[in-house]
Amino acid sequence: MSLRQKRNDLKKRMQEAFKGGGEQATEKQIASGKMTARERINSLLDADTFHEYDLFVKHAGVDFDMDKKYLPGDGVITGTGNINSWPVCIFAQDFTVAGGSLGYMHAKKITKIMDHAMKMKVPLIGINDSGGARIQEGVNSLAGYGEIFYRNTQASGVIPQISVILGPCAGGAVYSPALTDFVFVVDKISKMFITGPEVIKTVLGEEISMEDLGGARVHAEITGNAHFYAESEKECFEQIKKLVSFIPWNNEKTAETFPKKAPKSRQYKIDHIFPVNQMEPYDVRDIIKSICDDSDFFEVHQLWAANIVVGFARLDGQTVGFVANQPLVLAGVLDVDSSDKAARFIRFCDAFNIPLVTLVDLPGYLPGVDQEHAGVIRHGAKVLYAYSEATVPKLTVILRKAYGGGYIAMCSHHLRADFVFAWPTAEIAVMGPEGAANIIFRNEINSSDNPEETRKKLINEYRQKFANPYVAAAYGYVDAVIEPTETRDFLVHSLNIAEHKREATPKKKHGIPPF
Ligand code: HXC
Repeated sequence: MSLRQKRNDLKKRMQEAFKGGGEQATEKQIASGKMTARERINSLLDADTFHEYDLFVKHAGVDFDMDKKYLPGDGVITGTGNINSWPVCIFAQDFTVAGGSLGYMHAKKITKIMDHAMKMKVPLIGINDSGGARIQEGVNSLAGYGEIFYRNTQASGVIPQISVILGPCAGGAVYSPALTDFVFVVDKISKMFITGPEVIKTVLGEEISMEDLGGARVHAEITGNAHFYAESEKECFEQIKKLVSFIPWNNEKTAETFPKKAPKSRQYKIDHIFPVNQMEPYDVRDIIKSICDDSDFFEVHQLWAANIVVGFARLDGQTVGFVANQPLVLAGVLDVDSSDKAARFIRFCDAFNIPLVTLVDLPGYLPGVDQEHAGVIRHGAKVLYAYSEATVPKLTVILRKAYGGGYIAMCSHHLRADFVFAWPTAEIAVMGPEGAANIIFRNEINSSDNPEETRKKLINEYRQKFANPYVAAAYGYVDAVIEPTETRDFLVHSLNIAEHKREATPKKKHGIPPF
């Protein structure tokens, strides 16, 4: 063959492979509202930056006449490219080829790109759209999953791992996304479950649709398996691009800095957001927006456990992770889910050198039989563990209530916050005035001629004495009581001071967090 013939031959082979599962399967994919795997990669990555590898890999199936079948790319596309000009490794399962099912070589392609990501220390993005283990390849498919899970675990805390669920992700296949840092889902497209509706019907006699069992909203709102929810694939890709702009490529780097921008102070004025009445709720996200650069707050887990708010923003161009109680929902209490949500986010930030800013306003842990039986002790302990373990700069601002265990858990000095600031509206005490007065003054109230009047008087006395920041400040548990409008200035200043912070931790193989 001449050089020209060889080049034509390559072109023909590539064109053949690019057809994926063929016209009919592609039409079906598009008719079901999904992009094709290649369209997805090209929509997500910077234009013309995708470089594909292992296009000509052949599947290894021999049973059930599989050896007679041509499965282009073995149902998965792998390669490298850029997002915001930064490098990433990526794979996208191609549902048009044998339902994107995972056979031996399909898994090999994925583990190879995972190994690249680890070696090159760049983020890994996996787009999942698959019927799961390729049934015809038996135990080799299971082995493939095992190899992926192992690598997910090794890569955890070394490179950011992002999973995008853009189709079915069923059976044990769900555990790769579950082991990664961020899971993205899209309305009506994502379906995630361990056992599908058919099995549930057979075993339990219960009927449920795929959407109600493991659709996007279910995972974004109820299970918390998904961190980001989008209405369309396009919106989902925009979210991923934004996330990548906030986080570093790996655990040896810090996130890229951006030109600093003032908050949108006309829209987000602390005086307007923060209520005069201490009992009234407010949206803590508006407080974050009144503090951070350009009022641009990128929320993680927005729809799940909304009594705590976590997400990324920038202060003077530098990425920080905000963790804030949300007085709008359940008065911002810590409960089973909000503890899990906060602890996981804190650990991500700590692993990837992202300073933490904690805004405190909570009455404590949520009381109740449900919570106790759901393990609020075990789950709540995760917050204590995560904050205590974190060695990134830790800045805390107490806005209003910081009662009981909530005060300690929300990154107090005792868990080694570097700086704790309090607004003059802060109330730092063992418990709220009402509860405290009812306990310590019970006899006095009951024996009084006018118990109601006495209760009110004693509650007020307690409030005057303890429900303020000055008792804690007197012991040095609060470093400075600050004007709310000075918050950004104090945070930026202390971030700069903490830039070269190094904190030694005891030598050990690893801790044993209350998983
Ligand atoms: C081999 C598969 C496959 C699989 C789908 N296909 N799943 N081939 N192994 N797991 C093939 C189909 O045979 C079909 O091939 C093509 O992909 C498209 O599938 P359809 O069924 O036509 O698509 P759709 O109607 O959209 O249904 C999608 C689906 C369904 C809901 C995902 O395909 C399905 O239920 N698949 C099986 C899911 C499953 O039980 N997987 C195993 C889970 S156990 P043709 O040639 O007809 O086009 C597991 C264990 C992992 O994953 C354990 C890890 C620890």
